[in-house]
Amino acid sequence: MTKSAPVSARRDLADAPLLVAARGGTPRHTPVWFMRQAGRSLPEYRQLREGVPMLQACLTPELISEITLQPVRRHGVDAAILFSDIVLPLYAAGIGLDIVPGTGPVVSNPVRTAADVATLPSLDPAQVSPVADAVGLLVHELGRTPLIGFAGAPFTLASYLVEGGPSRNHERTKALMHSDPRTWHALLDKLASTTLEFLRLQVAAGVDAIQLFDSWAGALSQRDYREFVLPHSQRIFTGVAEMSDLPKIHFGVGTGELLGAMRAAGADVVGVDWRVPLDEAAARLHAAEPSWGAPVVQGNLDPAVLFAGWDAVEREVRRILGEGKAAGGHIFNLGHGVLPTTEPEVLTGIVELVHTASEQQ
Ligand code: CP3
Repeated sequence: MTKSAPVSARRDLADAPLLVAARGGTPRHTPVWFMRQAGRSLPEYRQLREGVPMLQACLTPELISEITLQPVRRHGVDAAILFSDIVLPLYAAGIGLDIVPGTGPVVSNPVRTAADVATLPSLDPAQVSPVADAVGLLVHELGRTPLIGFAGAPFTLASYLVEGGPSRNHERTKALMHSDPRTWHALLDKLASTTLEFLRLQVAAGVDAIQLFDSWAGALSQRDYREFVLPHSQRIFTGVAEMSDLPKIHFGVGTGELLGAMRAAGADVVGVDWRVPLDEAAARLHAAEPSWGAPVVQGNLDPAVLFAGWDAVEREVRRILGEGKAAGGHIFNLGHGVLPTTEPEVLTGIVELVHTASEQQ
């Protein structure tokens, strides 16, 4: 297998700040992008989505492309993230689910038994071919801006499938994990295969980096994470590394106790939410595996601070840039996704501030 996608599909972005930082180099400024930058905080997004269900939008190449480009045009961020959703490959594979506005993914027939797992369909890449088409459109439109592809990690996807929807305590998920480890591992193995297929398709189509979202992994102890989750996420990172050298980012919320394990899964960059300062996160990552070199971190402005007025935002951005210097590289981001009622002007202001405050002389 070749180590990268066809040359025709891959742009040479060696000096793009996002990719330089992700590899531990010194970019000309600290790169910045926002999780959920494409979405409801933008009026132009709401207009485009009018009357189009979320999952339908995620399978329409022209819409995917346009929505992905909107925040790049408006904010001047250092990366585009593909407009899609972590549950899209499950839906495309034939699992009955919908994304309900204001709630999130809802699954018609929750997966709770060995028989449920055995009949779970796997993804045929042809079922998500519109995503590859959209990546093809985007690499032409984006110029020098890298495109981040993404997928959901097996634990977070399993939580939606087992609970049947969003969950505060993940009790059914944890019950399955602890009461029937064999079925649990069979489920995560299937989900890892689907996620890997989805990422392979994006990499082959030309994305420049990938992020694995394990948004709800922070609900687990490190012991349970290492036993029940890490091997499956590791298989995904290994599979991506076998086909390309692209930077790999691993993100979850409330994962301060899991940072070392999330890097051990095979990530080049570890996402950090706002609960752990970046210098502390870098120290934890280093302590977990001193021989791996200086860790690269992504984060970690609290998305709620964007409602506190510009003085507070500026103070926090400068603090985070300072703390990020303790790491081997820093990609500025929020600690979680942009909240829907965020004023877009605040996001634009943060991009300008991160760039000017971090510019290399
Ligand atoms: O970051 C981006 O801009 C790219 C797009 C993106 C979406 N979902 C679009 C979306 C990404 C990266 C995701 C990932 C995702 N989806 C995650 C992991 C990231 C995270 O936030 O932790 C999760 C857990 C999901 C599942 C999901 N999909 C939720 C919880 C919701 C919100 C439901 C709601 O209405 O409150 C969605 C829907 C969703 N995904 C929207 C968007 C733009 C809103 C749907 C709409 O506009 O109608």
